[in-house]
Amino acid sequence: MTTTEHPGSGAGLAGANATESARQGLSSRRAATGAADSERIATVVGAALEGIRAAIRDHRVGYAEFDAFKRWLIDVSDTGEWPLFLDVYLEFEVERVAADSQSGSTGTILGPFWLDGQAQLTSPATLPMRDDEPGTPFVLAGQVRGTDGTPLAGATVDIWHTDDEGWYSGFAEKPPAGNLRGVVTCDDEGRFEIRTRKPAPYTIPLDGPTGKLTLAAGWSPWRPAHLHLLVAAPGHRTVTTQLFFTGDEYLDSDVASATKPDLVLDPQPTGNGAEIRSDYDFVLEPE
Ligand SMILES: [Fe+2]
Repeated sequence: MTTTEHPGSGAGLAGANATESARQGLSSRRAATGAADSERIATVVGAALEGIRAAIRDHRVGYAEFDAFKRWLIDVSDTGEWPLFLDVYLEFEVERVAADSQSGSTGTILGPFWLDGQAQLTSPATLPMRDDEPGTPFVLAGQVRGTDGTPLAGATVDIWHTDDEGWYSGFAEKPPAGNLRGVVTCDDEGRFEIRTRKPAPYTIPLDGPTGKLTLAAGWSPWRPAHLHLLVAAPGHRTVTTQLFFTGDEYLDSDVASATKPDLVLDPQPTGNGAEIRSDYDFVLEPE
Protein backbone atom coordinates (compact mmCIF):
# COMPACT_ATOMS: atom_id res chain seq x y z
CA MET A 1 0.00 0.00 0.00
CA THR A 2 1.21 3.46 -0.82
CA THR A 3 -0.02 6.35 1.29
CA THR A 4 -0.08 9.32 -0.96
CA GLU A 5 -0.42 13.02 -0.40
CA HIS A 6 -1.98 14.81 -3.29
CA PRO A 7 -0.26 18.19 -3.19
CA GLY A 8 -0.72 18.91 -6.88
CA SER A 9 -3.45 16.47 -7.66
CA GLY A 10 -5.31 18.38 -10.33
CA ALA A 11 -7.98 19.82 -8.09
CA GLY A 12 -9.34 21.56 -11.17
CA LEU A 13 -10.06 18.29 -12.97
CA ALA A 14 -11.57 16.70 -9.88
CA GLY A 15 -13.65 19.77 -9.19
CA ALA A 16 -14.94 20.10 -12.73
CA ASN A 17 -16.05 16.47 -12.92
CA ALA A 18 -17.64 16.47 -9.47
CA THR A 19 -19.45 19.71 -10.26
CA GLU A 20 -20.84 18.25 -13.48
CA SER A 21 -22.17 15.20 -11.58
CA ALA A 22 -23.76 17.44 -8.96
CA ARG A 23 -25.28 19.71 -11.60
CA GLN A 24 -27.00 16.69 -13.16
CA GLY A 25 -28.38 15.71 -9.78
CA LEU A 26 -26.23 12.59 -9.82
CA SER A 27 -24.66 13.32 -6.47
CA SER A 28 -28.06 13.07 -4.83
CA ARG A 29 -28.78 9.35 -4.85
CA ARG A 30 -31.12 9.38 -1.88
CA ALA A 31 -34.87 9.97 -1.89
CA ALA A 32 -35.89 13.52 -2.64
CA THR A 33 -38.18 15.21 -0.17
CA GLY A 34 -39.63 17.75 -2.58
CA ALA A 35 -39.33 21.50 -2.78
CA ALA A 36 -38.99 23.41 0.47
CA ASP A 37 -41.65 25.96 1.37
CA SER A 38 -40.77 29.47 2.44
CA GLU A 39 -41.18 28.70 6.14
CA ARG A 40 -38.70 25.82 5.85
CA ILE A 41 -36.25 27.98 3.90
CA ALA A 42 -36.50 30.77 6.46
CA THR A 43 -35.97 28.32 9.31
CA VAL A 44 -33.01 26.38 7.91
CA VAL A 45 -31.21 29.13 6.00
CA GLY A 46 -31.92 31.56 8.82
CA ALA A 47 -30.32 29.20 11.33
CA ALA A 48 -27.30 28.67 9.07
CA LEU A 49 -26.80 32.41 8.58
CA GLU A 50 -27.23 33.06 12.28
CA GLY A 51 -24.49 30.48 12.96
CA ILE A 52 -22.11 32.44 10.74
CA ARG A 53 -23.18 35.78 12.25
CA ALA A 54 -22.56 34.34 15.72
CA ALA A 55 -19.05 33.29 14.67
CA ILE A 56 -18.40 36.85 13.44
CA ARG A 57 -19.64 38.39 16.70
CA ASP A 58 -18.07 35.87 19.07
CA HIS A 59 -14.68 35.86 17.40
CA ARG A 60 -14.53 39.55 16.42
CA VAL A 61 -14.10 38.87 12.70
CA GLY A 62 -12.76 41.94 10.90
CA TYR A 63 -12.83 43.19 7.32
CA ALA A 64 -9.55 41.51 6.36
CA GLU A 65 -10.97 38.12 7.31
CA PHE A 66 -14.34 38.92 5.72
CA ASP A 67 -12.57 39.79 2.45
CA ALA A 68 -10.45 36.61 2.68
CA PHE A 69 -13.67 34.64 3.14
CA LYS A 70 -15.17 36.23 0.00
CA ARG A 71 -12.07 35.41 -2.03
CA TRP A 72 -12.13 31.82 -0.74
CA LEU A 73 -15.79 31.39 -1.70
CA ILE A 74 -15.02 32.71 -5.19
CA ASP A 75 -12.11 30.24 -5.44
CA VAL A 76 -14.40 27.36 -4.46
CA SER A 77 -16.73 28.31 -7.30
CA ASP A 78 -13.95 28.90 -9.83
CA THR A 79 -12.37 25.49 -9.15
CA GLY A 80 -15.67 23.60 -9.04
CA GLU A 81 -14.96 22.44 -5.50
CA TRP A 82 -18.43 22.99 -4.04
CA PRO A 83 -19.22 19.24 -4.19
CA LEU A 84 -15.87 18.39 -2.59
CA PHE A 85 -16.17 20.96 0.19
CA LEU A 86 -19.82 20.15 0.95
CA ASP A 87 -19.31 16.38 0.86
CA VAL A 88 -16.22 16.54 3.07
CA TYR A 89 -17.44 19.00 5.68
CA LEU A 90 -21.24 18.78 5.72
CA GLU A 91 -22.56 15.59 4.10
CA PHE A 92 -21.94 13.39 7.14
CA GLU A 93 -24.41 15.40 9.19
CA VAL A 94 -27.07 15.08 6.47
CA GLU A 95 -26.39 11.34 6.30
CA ARG A 96 -26.80 10.97 10.07
CA VAL A 97 -30.15 12.77 9.95
CA ALA A 98 -31.28 10.48 7.12
CA ALA A 99 -30.05 7.37 8.98
CA ASP A 100 -32.31 8.15 11.95
CA SER A 101 -35.35 7.04 9.96
CA GLN A 102 -33.76 4.14 8.08
CA SER A 103 -33.28 0.44 8.71
CA GLY A 104 -31.03 -2.01 6.92
CA SER A 105 -27.28 -1.88 6.51
CA THR A 106 -25.31 1.02 7.92
CA GLY A 107 -24.71 3.78 5.41
CA THR A 108 -22.35 6.71 5.19
CA ILE A 109 -21.62 9.55 2.80
CA LEU A 110 -21.64 9.23 -0.98
CA GLY A 111 -18.83 11.75 -1.51
CA PRO A 112 -18.08 13.57 -4.77
CA PHE A 113 -16.35 10.79 -6.76
CA TRP A 114 -19.20 8.53 -7.95
CA LEU A 115 -19.62 8.31 -11.71
CA ASP A 116 -22.53 7.04 -13.76
CA GLY A 117 -22.19 4.73 -16.76
CA GLN A 118 -19.51 2.34 -15.49
CA ALA A 119 -18.83 -1.27 -16.55
CA GLN A 120 -21.79 -3.60 -16.05
CA LEU A 121 -20.49 -6.88 -14.61
CA THR A 122 -21.93 -10.17 -13.38
CA SER A 123 -20.79 -11.88 -10.17
CA PRO A 124 -18.19 -13.32 -9.79
CA ALA A 125 -16.58 -10.22 -11.26
CA THR A 126 -13.20 -8.56 -11.60
CA LEU A 127 -13.23 -4.77 -11.72
CA PRO A 128 -11.69 -3.13 -14.80
CA MET A 129 -8.01 -2.57 -14.11
CA ARG A 130 -4.66 -2.13 -15.83
CA ASP A 131 -2.62 -5.23 -16.74
CA ASP A 132 -0.07 -4.30 -14.09
CA GLU A 133 -2.51 -2.79 -11.60
CA PRO A 134 -0.47 -2.26 -8.42
CA GLY A 135 -1.67 -3.15 -4.95
CA THR A 136 -2.78 -6.09 -2.86
CA PRO A 137 -5.28 -8.37 -4.63
CA PHE A 138 -8.52 -8.07 -2.67
CA VAL A 139 -11.81 -9.97 -2.81
CA LEU A 140 -15.05 -8.55 -1.42
CA ALA A 141 -17.83 -11.12 -1.20
CA GLY A 142 -21.21 -11.32 0.46
CA GLN A 143 -24.96 -11.50 0.08
CA VAL A 144 -27.69 -8.90 -0.33
CA ARG A 145 -30.87 -9.65 1.63
CA GLY A 146 -34.07 -7.88 2.57
CA THR A 147 -34.83 -6.93 6.18
CA ASP A 148 -36.87 -10.15 6.42
CA GLY A 149 -33.81 -12.19 5.43
CA THR A 150 -34.95 -12.93 1.87
CA PRO A 151 -32.03 -13.09 -0.59
CA LEU A 152 -32.50 -10.38 -3.20
CA ALA A 153 -31.98 -11.83 -6.66
CA GLY A 154 -30.83 -9.25 -9.17
CA ALA A 155 -29.38 -6.93 -6.56
CA THR A 156 -26.55 -4.75 -7.80
CA VAL A 157 -23.36 -3.59 -6.12
CA ASP A 158 -22.00 -0.38 -7.64
CA ILE A 159 -18.41 -0.13 -6.37
CA TRP A 160 -15.70 2.46 -6.88
CA HIS A 161 -12.47 3.15 -5.09
CA THR A 162 -8.96 4.52 -5.48
CA ASP A 163 -5.99 2.68 -6.84
CA ASP A 164 -2.96 1.79 -4.71
CA GLU A 165 -1.72 5.38 -4.96
CA GLY A 166 -4.97 6.93 -3.79
CA TRP A 167 -6.20 8.14 -7.20
CA TYR A 168 -9.76 7.86 -8.52
CA SER A 169 -10.27 7.21 -12.20
CA GLY A 170 -12.21 10.07 -13.75
CA PHE A 171 -10.84 12.56 -11.22
CA ALA A 172 -7.10 12.33 -11.79
CA GLU A 173 -4.91 12.10 -14.88
CA LYS A 174 -3.25 8.80 -14.03
CA PRO A 175 -5.74 5.94 -13.85
CA PRO A 176 -7.56 5.27 -17.14
CA ALA A 177 -11.29 5.94 -17.37
CA GLY A 178 -13.35 3.32 -15.60
CA ASN A 179 -10.42 1.92 -13.63
CA LEU A 180 -11.52 0.14 -10.43
CA ARG A 181 -15.18 0.99 -10.99
CA GLY A 182 -18.07 -1.28 -11.87
CA VAL A 183 -21.70 -2.24 -11.28
CA VAL A 184 -21.87 -5.92 -10.33
CA THR A 185 -25.14 -7.84 -10.63
CA CYS A 186 -25.52 -10.48 -7.91
CA ASP A 187 -26.59 -14.07 -8.55
CA ASP A 188 -30.05 -15.50 -7.91
CA GLU A 189 -29.26 -15.74 -4.20
CA GLY A 190 -28.14 -12.12 -3.99
CA ARG A 191 -24.53 -13.20 -3.66
CA PHE A 192 -21.61 -11.25 -5.03
CA GLU A 193 -17.87 -11.79 -5.32
CA ILE A 194 -15.74 -8.91 -6.56
CA ARG A 195 -12.02 -9.08 -7.32
CA THR A 196 -10.10 -5.83 -7.19
CA ARG A 197 -7.11 -4.21 -5.46
CA LYS A 198 -7.06 -2.91 -1.90
CA PRO A 199 -7.41 0.89 -2.09
CA ALA A 200 -5.07 3.34 -0.35
CA PRO A 201 -5.60 6.30 1.99
CA TYR A 202 -5.53 9.64 0.22
CA THR A 203 -5.66 13.33 0.94
CA ILE A 204 -8.33 15.52 -0.53
CA PRO A 205 -6.72 17.67 -3.26
CA LEU A 206 -4.36 20.05 -1.50
CA ASP A 207 -3.96 22.53 -4.36
CA GLY A 208 -7.57 23.74 -4.29
CA PRO A 209 -9.40 25.97 -1.81
CA THR A 210 -10.83 23.05 0.23
CA GLY A 211 -7.39 21.57 0.79
CA LYS A 212 -5.79 24.95 1.42
CA LEU A 213 -8.42 25.78 4.04
CA THR A 214 -7.91 22.37 5.65
CA LEU A 215 -4.16 22.84 5.88
CA ALA A 216 -4.47 26.48 7.00
CA ALA A 217 -6.65 25.33 9.91
CA GLY A 218 -4.17 22.60 10.81
CA TRP A 219 -6.73 19.85 10.18
CA SER A 220 -5.78 16.49 8.71
CA PRO A 221 -6.60 16.26 4.99
CA TRP A 222 -6.52 12.45 4.99
CA ARG A 223 -9.22 9.93 4.30
CA PRO A 224 -8.60 6.32 5.40
CA ALA A 225 -8.58 3.75 2.59
CA HIS A 226 -12.13 2.81 1.64
CA LEU A 227 -14.43 1.18 -0.86
CA HIS A 228 -17.49 3.15 -1.96
CA LEU A 229 -20.66 1.12 -2.53
CA LEU A 230 -24.21 1.67 -3.73
CA VAL A 231 -26.16 -1.52 -3.03
CA ALA A 232 -29.52 -1.63 -4.80
CA ALA A 233 -32.40 -4.00 -5.50
CA PRO A 234 -35.83 -3.44 -7.05
CA GLY A 235 -38.39 -2.27 -4.50
CA HIS A 236 -35.77 -1.50 -1.89
CA ARG A 237 -34.00 1.61 -0.67
CA THR A 238 -30.47 1.83 -2.02
CA VAL A 239 -27.80 1.64 0.65
CA THR A 240 -25.01 4.18 0.12
CA THR A 241 -21.99 3.23 2.16
CA GLN A 242 -18.23 2.83 2.44
CA LEU A 243 -16.12 0.03 3.84
CA PHE A 244 -12.84 0.74 5.61
CA PHE A 245 -9.91 -1.45 6.73
CA THR A 246 -8.87 -2.32 10.26
CA GLY A 247 -5.51 -0.90 11.30
CA ASP A 248 -5.72 2.09 8.95
CA GLU A 249 -3.88 4.98 10.57
CA TYR A 250 -6.53 7.48 9.46
CA LEU A 251 -9.61 5.63 10.74
CA ASP A 252 -9.99 8.02 13.66
CA SER A 253 -9.13 11.21 11.79
CA ASP A 254 -11.15 10.97 8.56
CA VAL A 255 -11.39 14.48 7.12
CA ALA A 256 -14.89 13.59 5.87
CA SER A 257 -16.04 12.17 9.25
CA ALA A 258 -17.53 9.19 7.39
CA THR A 259 -16.18 6.21 9.34
CA LYS A 260 -18.44 4.07 11.54
CA PRO A 261 -17.36 1.07 13.64
CA ASP A 262 -19.46 -1.49 11.76
CA LEU A 263 -18.05 -0.39 8.41
CA VAL A 264 -14.52 -1.62 9.12
CA LEU A 265 -13.31 -4.76 7.35
CA ASP A 266 -10.68 -7.17 8.63
CA PRO A 267 -9.52 -8.96 5.47
CA GLN A 268 -7.84 -12.34 5.77
CA PRO A 269 -5.40 -14.15 3.47
CA THR A 270 -7.04 -16.53 1.00
CA GLY A 271 -3.91 -18.64 0.53
CA ASN A 272 -3.78 -17.52 -3.11
CA GLY A 273 -0.53 -15.57 -3.13
CA ALA A 274 -0.88 -12.15 -1.54
CA GLU A 275 -4.66 -12.12 -2.02
CA ILE A 276 -6.86 -11.08 0.92
CA ARG A 277 -10.64 -11.35 1.29
CA SER A 278 -13.48 -9.87 3.31
CA ASP A 279 -17.07 -11.09 3.50
CA TYR A 280 -19.71 -8.44 4.14
CA ASP A 281 -23.46 -8.85 3.77
CA PHE A 282 -25.95 -6.06 3.06
CA VAL A 283 -29.55 -5.71 4.24
CA LEU A 284 -31.93 -3.47 2.29
CA GLU A 285 -35.23 -2.16 3.62
CA PRO A 286 -38.36 -2.16 1.43
CA GLU A 287 -39.20 1.18 -0.17
FE1 LIG B 1 -13.53 8.20 -1.47
